[in-house]
Amino acid sequence: MYYSEELVEEVRTRNDIVDVVAGYVKLQKRGSNHWGLCPFHNEKSPSFSVSGAKQMYYCFGCGAGGNVFTFLMNYENYSFPEAVKVLADRAGVRLPEAEDSAEIRKRENKRARLLEVNKEAAKFFYYQLRDPRGAVGYQYLRKRELTDETMHKFGLGYAGKSGAELVKYLQGKGFEDELIREAGLATHSERHGLVSQFWNRVMFPIQDINHRVIGFGGRVMGDGTPKYLNSPETSVFDKRRNLYGLNFARTARCGNIILCEGYMDVIAMHQAGFTQAVASLGTAFTPEQANLLHRYTENVLLAYDSDGAGVKAALRGIAILREAGLTGKVINMQPYKDPDEFMKALGKEAFQERIDRAENSFFFEIRILESQFDGNDPEEKTKFHREIARKLCEFSEGVERDNYLQAVADKYMIGVGNLRRLVEKYAEQTGLAKPLERPRSGVQPKNDPEESARRSQRLLITWLADEPALYGKIKKYISPEDFTDGLYRKAAERIFQELETGNFRPAGVISMFEDESEQREVAALFNTNLPQLNTGQEREKAFHDILIAVKKNSYEYYTGKLGDDVSALKQALEGRKALEELAKTHISLDERL
Ligand code: GTP
Ligand code: MN
Repeated sequence: MYYSEELVEEVRTRNDIVDVVAGYVKLQKRGSNHWGLCPFHNEKSPSFSVSGAKQMYYCFGCGAGGNVFTFLMNYENYSFPEAVKVLADRAGVRLPEAEDSAEIRKRENKRARLLEVNKEAAKFFYYQLRDPRGAVGYQYLRKRELTDETMHKFGLGYAGKSGAELVKYLQGKGFEDELIREAGLATHSERHGLVSQFWNRVMFPIQDINHRVIGFGGRVMGDGTPKYLNSPETSVFDKRRNLYGLNFARTARCGNIILCEGYMDVIAMHQAGFTQAVASLGTAFTPEQANLLHRYTENVLLAYDSDGAGVKAALRGIAILREAGLTGKVINMQPYKDPDEFMKALGKEAFQERIDRAENSFFFEIRILESQFDGNDPEEKTKFHREIARKLCEFSEGVERDNYLQAVADKYMIGVGNLRRLVEKYAEQTGLAKPLERPRSGVQPKNDPEESARRSQRLLITWLADEPALYGKIKKYISPEDFTDGLYRKAAERIFQELETGNFRPAGVISMFEDESEQREVAALFNTNLPQLNTGQEREKAFHDILIAVKKNSYEYYTGKLGDDVSALKQALEGRKALEELAKTHISLDERL
């Protein structure tokens, strides 16, 4: 059921978020915000903030955030229309019968069609695997010790050697060529017309949490490259925000979720009874996926490959989990490479033991750190201890930090007093007395250009939300195209349009997004921790730096796309010009100038 945007906005603006939230959470006013204990995660000191000015809430601890609708959807488990209805009643707004906006309908239609064509393709692959002509695929999966039941549960399939059959089948079911192409199932070739994208591969349909097929991974049956071919992103296949196997894992309810690297790992684990296993989708684990996991569990066990790349990925994963407020542990797979191999060699009891003995992520990080220093050399050893102290500073809570300090001192035979003094020294240097900076373990934001670009974009939006008057001064340089993440772009388009017309309502922007995790992310856009600076000059410099960072990223992004996108050239040229101008321009934060 859809209500018109105007109506949704009316309901929202007539329900003050501070009043509504105060009905659930004890709030205290501090500065311009109200603060309380976050109802969405366990905490002892308040990091949950509600802003009357922005009509939003945001938790700096777990990242929960949104507008008044999001709050009720999360707290009461309401759907969006239910939340609208409850708040309409509360404010005495009369709701008409269901309304439909043409555009929403069109978008939904497209998504529905993409899901349908994926489902049909999955069926086609499924039957091919069970056809005599699919015997190679079937034999391959048998050789990898999958049972029929497992193949069925995961809907595994086979894409045959003829590139035309799938296309013919889908056309016969009434799907337009354009849709088949858009779903990433086929590509257009001059010589053969539309041909299947997947060819002589075993097929892994990728499902969302509601078991709908949103994309595919196809594996070669041997040593060819690429080993896995994955569907491209589409409006139903967002690789940052889905996890393989989560449709089953979410109901496993065993107190944890196991994060693996590969599809085959997930499947082997489920077959062995560990139905809480999931994997990311051929890309690195993302903060969005961490937030998604947080809906189902507090504890994530990493079962990454035991090789160097796997350890690196685990370190990054730990940092992301920590940032999302999740507890991470690491499963030791030695001497095997991955869960799939481990399971085959030692079986499920042995794996359960490894789960029970999974290593606390902090000690894992320290152990990896240790291997980088020569313990026999006093100089190196001192460096190692300094690094430990530095890492201890990342715990913002005193008690927790002290517990870890004692444990790590014990384990590595360091004098507790000495270590404490070292920690205090670093704490002073890094300003631990103030709220701690974001935890920095495996990844420094610097090292992840994509995340750091997203961060600058968030900072800019938050700053504009706090001081909308600045818009007039920057619109010459920045446009929604400079927001290179799809979700941010969509939000920015709306925000810029509202700023242009002087009708800026951040909380309304959130209602544009139906998906809860998207709403959270958009809320985060408006609630980034702005740098705490004292002088006007410092603030101006920071703002200028943010503008440059956003513009530079956008320039690099479009430059990288030259060649496969015609509009990229225009964007890149404009970007360079704007960068040059920005470098020379002083932008005052004083509204009067
Ligand atoms: P097996 O080798 O069949 O056991 O598969 P695996 O799932 O263990 O794969 P692996 O550990 O090599 O890789 C982990 C995940 O990375 C896979 O499940 C894929 O999602 C992804 N991946 C691996 N190889 C490729 C590739 O060549 N291209 C892409 N796009 N993704 C890949
Ligand atoms: Mn494997």
